[in-house]
Amino acid sequence: MAHGPIARMQHFSVEVSNTDRSIEFYRDILGFKLTERHAAHEVAAIPVELTFLRLGTAHHELVLVHNPDKTYRPRPTRPEDDLDGPPSFHHFALECDSREDWEKVLHKVTARNVPIVRGPVVHSFVDPRGDGSWGENEAFYILDPDGHRVEIFWALATIDPDGVHRNVKGERLQGTKTEEL
Ligand SMILES: [Fe+2]
Repeated sequence: MAHGPIARMQHFSVEVSNTDRSIEFYRDILGFKLTERHAAHEVAAIPVELTFLRLGTAHHELVLVHNPDKTYRPRPTRPEDDLDGPPSFHHFALECDSREDWEKVLHKVTARNVPIVRGPVVHSFVDPRGDGSWGENEAFYILDPDGHRVEIFWALATIDPDGVHRNVKGERLQGTKTEEL
């Protein structure tokens, strides 16, 4: 349940240098469905190509934006290597409901030679397999055709209204009570 008038975070939009290539990636490898694709200037106020993709029933959860007038430069492989320029997008994350599903995506991206730039890794400071970081989830990070970093994860911790953190099994994580700031 949301804490205020904004109910949830919903879609993400990335700028792409080649819409066909990115549709193929997000549809054929990650399983998005194509909702609509529109040319630049189709609507007078919109000078960019817009492509809407979805995983569930919402009209879109991912929007690909392509500006035909722009000369695109490649992104650095890792956000950490981007040492000059304005503050930029770092990564976005896609959630699986089970480890089995998460492994299916891992196998798919491996079979398609999609670059995995980090992981698989357990984000945990209590799990013996953990990397010492936060959120109690298992993740790996890939690059889309333009080098946008996409995290694929499952088992993100939840936080009770009183601030107690729980893992995916509902077990209370010791020493993790979030203080109100
Ligand atoms: Fe993340």
